Amino acid sequence: MTGLLDRFGRRATDLRVSLTDRCNLRCSYCMPPEGLPWLPQPDVLTDDEVVRLIRVAVERLGVTEVRFTGGEPLLRPGLVEIVRSAAALRPRPRIALTTNGIGLDRRAADLRTAGLDRVNVSLDTLRADRFVRISHRDRHDDVLSGITAAASAGLTPVKLNAVLLRGINDDEAGDLLAYALAHGYELRFIEQMPLDAQHGWTREGMITADEVEAALRTRFGLTPDPGPRGGAPAETFLVDGGPAKVGIIASVTRPFCGDCDRTRLTADGQVRNCLFATQESDLRTALRSGADDEELAERWSRAMWMKKAGHGIDNPDFLQPARAMSAIGG
Ligand code: 5AD
Ligand code: SF4
Repeated sequence: MTGLLDRFGRRATDLRVSLTDRCNLRCSYCMPPEGLPWLPQPDVLTDDEVVRLIRVAVERLGVTEVRFTGGEPLLRPGLVEIVRSAAALRPRPRIALTTNGIGLDRRAADLRTAGLDRVNVSLDTLRADRFVRISHRDRHDDVLSGITAAASAGLTPVKLNAVLLRGINDDEAGDLLAYALAHGYELRFIEQMPLDAQHGWTREGMITADEVEAALRTRFGLTPDPGPRGGAPAETFLVDGGPAKVGIIASVTRPFCGDCDRTRLTADGQVRNCLFATQESDLRTALRSGADDEELAERWSRAMWMKKAGHGIDNPDFLQPARAMSAIGG
């Protein structure tokens, strides 16, 4: 099996599947408050189609990790069954979910039983008023109960993702870490990337990894985690000597594209070889016109072969992808 190789010798083994572009929040770094025109329903892959493509990736292309994203993947009615089908594949992939947490309180136990291994929940603030300001919806309590439910259901380690925004929640790095430590969650800060539909990202507005680290060091001792980093994008630190850890993902200021092991499938069946790709490869049309597994695998391999060396946010000719984060998947 050749797998999903690219011209730079990278091999993608981590598949991110966006199950819907819809979301019940409107985080300002992702979507405008009024939302976006959603994908037309006929274009969205059915549950069977999604499972078929995951099977091709696992059985023929060497994918070992499947992460479901959105939009908000909990809005996908068939999520639990999709997870169950993915868990039945051999070799069994590890299965994770990136979610905003809303509704997780009701689904966590079923997801666990179906075979979900882990979750990442977005939590940018501990303050309900700021949550509304960032996400334009009054759902902070739902997120917190979703996080608690994930931990009780054994979807561990529960990871929390935080994006700090200048002048809004950038004074909360230490409080968020204290909260994560108190509950045994693994917190990771992510630098804001230029992926919002409204093109509101600016370099000056972005809170950098160095700023996050400096803020944390005023309250905690941080030492580089001696463990292997592998393809993981987070730089991890032991907090106050460990074993607790915190991660900082310097997607913009210290890109990790050279170690990237990801491939992405959008809800409408397009392969993206990078978050920032400006071109996609259409698997849906091939799938619906009767392509066999071998042909689908070949198309997927070809799409990955063309992956660029890096996102090039610093290049003068950098072009933000036409799809917003919500339609790509994190
Ligand atoms: N920059 C950085 N992180 C983002 N996320 C969504 N949009 C952006 C962006 N522009 C995060 C969400 C979620 C994960 C899927 O990615 O907060 O945790
Ligand atoms: Fe929804 Fe996630 Fe986008 Fe927020 S970042 S609006 S939770 S898809």
